[in-house]
Amino acid sequence: MNIRLAKFKDLIPSSLPFVEGKLDGHKERKNYSILGPGVAEDAEQSIKISEPHGFNLGAVSAKPFNGSGLHSHLTAEVFIIYSGKWRFYWGSEGKDETILNPGDIISMPTNMFRAFENAGDEEGLIFVVLGGDDPGIVTWIPEVLERAKKTGMALLDDNSLIDLNIKAIPNGRRLLEPISDDEIKKFNNYKLDQLKSNISTLNNRIENELNIGDNIKISHILGNIFQDKSVNPIIKQDTGFSLSCFKSKKGRVENLVFNKPTILFSQKGNWKIEMENLSKEINFKDTISVPLGVNVNIEINESEVSYLNCVSSI
Ligand SMILES: [Fe+2]
Repeated sequence: MNIRLAKFKDLIPSSLPFVEGKLDGHKERKNYSILGPGVAEDAEQSIKISEPHGFNLGAVSAKPFNGSGLHSHLTAEVFIIYSGKWRFYWGSEGKDETILNPGDIISMPTNMFRAFENAGDEEGLIFVVLGGDDPGIVTWIPEVLERAKKTGMALLDDNSLIDLNIKAIPNGRRLLEPISDDEIKKFNNYKLDQLKSNISTLNNRIENELNIGDNIKISHILGNIFQDKSVNPIIKQDTGFSLSCFKSKKGRVENLVFNKPTILFSQKGNWKIEMENLSKEINFKDTISVPLGVNVNIEINESEVSYLNCVSSI
């Protein structure tokens, strides 16, 4: 059986994952690549599970007033709030925004600038799912590249990160030019009302919960397929992967079978995952990639309501 486990305590974060990493508002941040390369520009970023699954999983922790600058991706980007209070803002000027809390989920469309910052008063943690085996490059608004350059950080024309304080531009390479005003206009802007359908808050999700197994509920957040069967997700966006959340205090579900690459990751509580004769404990923040085509049993026995996220390739 092919089981891959990513214990959060074993992950090695990058503290300078992106070009903006030395700027105030971005430097008190750590970036974790749990599954897949993600989009980190830091060539040294450690990746815990590197086998392709059709999507990527990462995490970001940041201190108050820290986060990411305005950027866009070539694939879907879904944020799951683990702890703290986070402000998400978007559009080329970052004028529209929403505040999200633990358990809330926002799925960002492609071709749109987005950013986030810790809006609470202590360090917070978010998990991030990105589409594709290789989510490709990050496109920054020009201001991020211009401000970063003053700290010595820049991107080369192959999108690799360079610290000009310690290294000269290699022969045959040039610095990446910021995108033009005409290119910026090609990106979409959304009002909060238009993006509301891409947000699922923990409280609003209750009406979409379904019973599964013995005393476990499940919400289908993204993707119209779960375990090869059609489901009706809360967020109607085609991301190439599905996201569902198990919820229970004490419960058990048996004989789940996943035929597409699938991971389970605990948002709260210690979950027991049985796969044939093998049993693994998934604690808070841990991730497991489950083997394909075998019966998977999930069990929880906690004193508080707990949550387990499930992402599958479609
Ligand atoms: Fe991003």
